[in-house]
Amino acid sequence: MKIISGPASKELAKNVSALTGYPNLSVASKIFPDGESYVRLEGDVKGEDVAIVQTTCPPMQDSRLMQLSFLADAAKRASADKVTAVVPYLAYARQDKMFLSGEGISVETIGRMLKAAGVDEFLTINIHSENALGKFPFPAKTASAISLLAQYFVEKGHKKAYALSPDKGAMYIAFEAQQVLGGNAGHLDKQRDRYTGQTTQTGKGLDVKGQTVIIFDDIISTGGTIVGAAKILRELGAAHVFAACVHPLLIGDAAKRILDADVEEIVGTDSVPGVFSKVSLAPLISKQLKGAK
Ligand code: R5P
Repeated sequence: MKIISGPASKELAKNVSALTGYPNLSVASKIFPDGESYVRLEGDVKGEDVAIVQTTCPPMQDSRLMQLSFLADAAKRASADKVTAVVPYLAYARQDKMFLSGEGISVETIGRMLKAAGVDEFLTINIHSENALGKFPFPAKTASAISLLAQYFVEKGHKKAYALSPDKGAMYIAFEAQQVLGGNAGHLDKQRDRYTGQTTQTGKGLDVKGQTVIIFDDIISTGGTIVGAAKILRELGAAHVFAACVHPLLIGDAAKRILDADVEEIVGTDSVPGVFSKVSLAPLISKQLKGAK
């Protein structure tokens, strides 16, 4: 197998190569003056299985999806055997059903687009809802980075911290973290208005007084969910509040708003490269690729 370094995940792809021992193949890329993307494989893939590592986080998630598609096409045209798309953060994954009439199902469109481009298999990390993958026109799976995030906190001395998910539907995330942390786990309740996008959160019956609480979520986008959760936790008497997420999109001033809300640290993974990407997905992706061979 060869690991193709997508322009959005060069560092991560290199680390996956180092851990798996699979050679790394670089990609020449540029954006034309009119905004269109160009990519070119800088090496031979004939008869090889390839894994293209390319996250599709903002900014430029559309361009990143196009780069991924163009790379899959280039690999197939260069006679690669099996093309696996490794997409740590999958854009559009939250539109996994028609919430309102007249909408489409964006994530299914992305799956069909990648299939047409030449993708044979697909791996992502903590997709928002696994339902979407079932509709992809090729074998597709999601792996979880929650235990890696929890391990980060154990190493920082927070064993037994309370693992909290910001809504009931994400309780499986808190349970995964709890397995590593060894403390309690619970959830807030969150309701979203589908027209305005506004959310309301409540923490009825939660006992976190005097505890260190780590809020675990798949995505931090505007930071609104974490800021609201932190406020409730402080009101309930939590002693320390941390935020952990797999995909730290942290749009605009989200990080500042979260830290201003007395959250002591934000920890994310390199699915979205940045200053808060303190946990690497390389070991998890490497294990998945090795297992797949
Ligand atoms: C939503 O259901 C997700 O799991 C996250 O909680 C959400 O995407 C976070 O968004 P924001 O940071 O904008 O509140």
